[in-house]
Amino acid sequence: MNRPAQLVLNVNGATHVVEASARTPLLYLLRNDLALNGPKFGCGLGECGACTVLLDGVPTRACVTTAEVALGHEITTLEGLGTRSALHPVQQAFIDEQAAQCGYCLNGMIMTATALLRRDPHPELATIQRELSRNLCRCGTHVEIVRAVRRAAELLALQAGADAHDGARG
Ligand code: FES
Ligand code: FES
Repeated sequence: MNRPAQLVLNVNGATHVVEASARTPLLYLLRNDLALNGPKFGCGLGECGACTVLLDGVPTRACVTTAEVALGHEITTLEGLGTRSALHPVQQAFIDEQAAQCGYCLNGMIMTATALLRRDPHPELATIQRELSRNLCRCGTHVEIVRAVRRAAELLALQAGADAHDGARG
């Protein structure tokens, strides 16, 4: 499986064909072949979380996930959450709380938080801290990041309420 092959990847709702060895790290294909630079290369060892993407909704370290593991799964990158003109509530919350210094860890923080809030829309503080504990931030922005996740939960609840109201009005 080391020879290049045509690999079909489902990324952010679209199908992409790339030519690469099936053992290529998914992160390389996303960044180098598909120009999706939301996921970052940090440690390359599965330790820091900067490269996190969602694989069928599950936070996954793309630097240590080979392309063959990702085949047939729905891959979501930061670019798949929102757009510049219509940010995802988690992205908006990180801006509102100014939860960044250098910003290098934010991809992993936002992707991990998004998965958590889908699973648990109202997480306890301890749950947020536990979920993010394997995402490293060398700038020490943890307090603002946790605050951003709590704000994101509020924004998502507001959005769900507005959607329900619109639905009821038909
Ligand atoms: S770059 Fe993937 S976990 Fe650090
Ligand atoms: S803001 Fe710099 S690594 Fe987190």
